[in-house]
Amino acid sequence: MMGLLELRGLTKAYKRGGRAFNAVTRVSLSIEPGDFISIIGRSGSGKTTLLNMGAGLLNPTQGSVLFEGQDIYGLQDKDISFLRNEKIGYVPQGQSLLSNFTVFDNVCIPWFLFKREGDVEGRAFTLLEKVGISRLAASYPRELSGGEMRRVAIARSLINNPRLLIADEPTGDLDVETTAEIMGLFSRIAGEGTAVLMVTHELDTLNYGDKTYSMDGGNLLPHTALNPTGHGTRP
Ligand SMILES: Nc1ncnc2c1ncn2[C@@H]1O[C@H](COP(=O)(O)OP(=O)(O)OP(=O)(O)O)[C@@H](O)[C@H]1O
Ligand SMILES: [Mg+2]
Repeated sequence: MMGLLELRGLTKAYKRGGRAFNAVTRVSLSIEPGDFISIIGRSGSGKTTLLNMGAGLLNPTQGSVLFEGQDIYGLQDKDISFLRNEKIGYVPQGQSLLSNFTVFDNVCIPWFLFKREGDVEGRAFTLLEKVGISRLAASYPRELSGGEMRRVAIARSLINNPRLLIADEPTGDLDVETTAEIMGLFSRIAGEGTAVLMVTHELDTLNYGDKTYSMDGGNLLPHTALNPTGHGTRP
């Protein structure tokens, strides 16, 4: 069966100080609808680089990325953007909100980037409620804490009801309870058929993914020992 997202032999080479090195080395991974995959690994091990290639944001040096069977780096830039906006939700590692827009408008932006119809206001409020910050809808990013900004980015990533959610340390600046809420939300989304691919530092969030990998010096390895309960979304 063709996966939703197929990473095939992905390698990314960078240069620093005249020396080339691989941040990611020949990583292959197949992601099916409803999968909830977490990746852990030390700082600098290549996690963000891998996610960015999988999300259509960073051209691999070698290898390919198939989304619904389509080789996305064979597409024109504007077609990649269109596909990403329509089908892939992305929560970047750093601050990514637009400072001149309110929380509410930040959440709605992906909806309006390409012409769409429907009740975006209702949807945006529901998502802000789900991440626990609907009271901040009219605020601006500079008025928020790091964890609140992260939650806006999570709501924004879900506004277009993506097939695939890619999240880079989405709970990095959240407390234990809020982390549990966000992980619960991701589990439910995976249960509804959206694939979730998440990078996390925290060992406790591993309990939420149903498949876990670790990244080590650019290599992706299965990580089995620490996932005893697995709130798995698979039957
Ligand atoms: N544009 C770039 N040019 C050169 N080197 C880069 C570039 N981007 C990342 N790197 C290097 O590639 C390696 C992997 O970086 P990456 O951001 O993927 O790590 P990470 O696992 O996400 O780390 P963290 O947990 O700190 O976020 C690091 O050594 C980093 O310094
Ligand atoms: Mg990173």
